[in-house]
Amino acid sequence: MHRESGSGRFFYMYYYFDDWLVKGAKLIMNALNVVILAAGKGTRMYSETPKVLHSLAGRPLLQHVLDTALGLSASQLCVIYGHGGEAVPEMMAGYDAAFILQEPQLGTGHAVQQALPQLKDGSVTLVLYGDVPLLQIGTLKKMLDTPQALTLLTVFLDNPSGYGRILRDRSGRVSGIVEEKDASTEQRALREVNTGIMSVPTHFLRHWLSALRNENAQGEYYLTDIVAMAAAQGVDVHTVHPSQEWEILGVNNKMQLAELERIWQKNHATELLLKGVTLADPARLDVRGRLECGRDVEIDVGCVFVGNVQLGDGVKIGAYSIIRNTCIGKHSRVEPYSHIDEAKIGSNCRIGPYARLRPGSQLHTDVHIGNFVEVKNSEFSSSSKANHLSYIGDASVGTRVNIGAGTITCNYDGVNKHRTIIEEDAFIGSNTQLVAPVKIGRGATIGAGSTITRDAPEGELTLARSRQTTLKGWRRPQKKK
Ligand code: UD1
Ligand code: MG
Repeated sequence: MHRESGSGRFFYMYYYFDDWLVKGAKLIMNALNVVILAAGKGTRMYSETPKVLHSLAGRPLLQHVLDTALGLSASQLCVIYGHGGEAVPEMMAGYDAAFILQEPQLGTGHAVQQALPQLKDGSVTLVLYGDVPLLQIGTLKKMLDTPQALTLLTVFLDNPSGYGRILRDRSGRVSGIVEEKDASTEQRALREVNTGIMSVPTHFLRHWLSALRNENAQGEYYLTDIVAMAAAQGVDVHTVHPSQEWEILGVNNKMQLAELERIWQKNHATELLLKGVTLADPARLDVRGRLECGRDVEIDVGCVFVGNVQLGDGVKIGAYSIIRNTCIGKHSRVEPYSHIDEAKIGSNCRIGPYARLRPGSQLHTDVHIGNFVEVKNSEFSSSSKANHLSYIGDASVGTRVNIGAGTITCNYDGVNKHRTIIEEDAFIGSNTQLVAPVKIGRGATIGAGSTITRDAPEGELTLARSRQTTLKGWRRPQKKK
């Protein structure tokens, strides 16, 4: 016990707990609580949306933190929320977490106090911030290596302004944290800062929090004040540093949000490159979700991947394509400027340029969807083609079908959607309207320019257009001179 290093006030307060505390410290801390502070207003975002719900790489900031926390297999997950009404618990309803309203918000210590009823003694409590989304699980695991100590995540910054500074005694032991607004000029010169992330044995936390005072420059209950209490009690205060400095960056405004977005994207691009994916320019790739790639995948510049996207071996994605929740089979190519949303694409397909596949599009192998072709809720069997300027909606297309330029499935009568069935080996001439519900039989041919309102029999040529006539000797009107 290093009683002499503590401030007299805290030492006196805890003297009677000492025996109990020492026993507590020896408990095996096998359970983990994670408390995520997310009640802050986010004034500098200038937004109606609570700060922690702003999106980074397609997920709310808070979701990044929750997902990282899940990797720690915590037995209790608490989110302290405040601003934005129920938007936070509603949006994060999928997580098995306790959402606790902090109202009013009286500081970080007060925030953690709100979680105390949910936390069991004999455990460790890890405090995270909902607006610090890039923390890596490895760094947190390092912090949890010393469960009997109060462990702080700290970094040394050339410009430490804005952060709480870590105070150390002559022997280098942490003796407290001073907030910038309360710091002396000398203390402000210290470069080791508090990131705000800490892990604490829960029984200590409970007792220290109950003794917090708000006699400071901001009139707040500072979580950071428990560090001096720990030091005064002789409880070990450890410091751990993140593997990468960007891990501890927080979001206070849109500029920082954009900076963190770039860091996340760069990290993700690096990961893909190191797994063998070819990126024409790692700085011009945006992944907003999860992108899984097989071997020899090539992605050109300006592509955006949203949600869950899987690209099979040898897939090539052309520039400026946007692909969302889609699976693309081996050796398929997507040519530039294509937009693919909730589609299933088999192997050896050719899509685009300028193709649009909407939800429910399913292409089997070797299907070609060309420029300015829109497909919705339709299945194309193998080796079928719609190469130019068509709308195919609510259709089932058999194998080896050729759909000519300008074909439209008229699937909507203003109230209901109807299906078009095109059987194998059919040939649809250009500029054809297929008024659904309608079926084109196997091997049928539809003459160009037809409006087909009834089923077309298999193997035959069906035409539905007026006959061509020529008016002999007809003259164009002449302009009078
Ligand atoms: C806090 C730390 C400071 C550290 C800095 C790192 C304290 C007293 N200070 O300062 O040492 O260097 O973070 O960024 O802890 N929050 C609540 N409820 C509240 C107050 C805050 O949920 O009543 C949340 C905020 O939403 C935010 C986090 O806690 O996610 C930190 O709060 P903030 O006001 O940013 O603390 P700082 O003054 O930056
Ligand atoms: Mg802050």
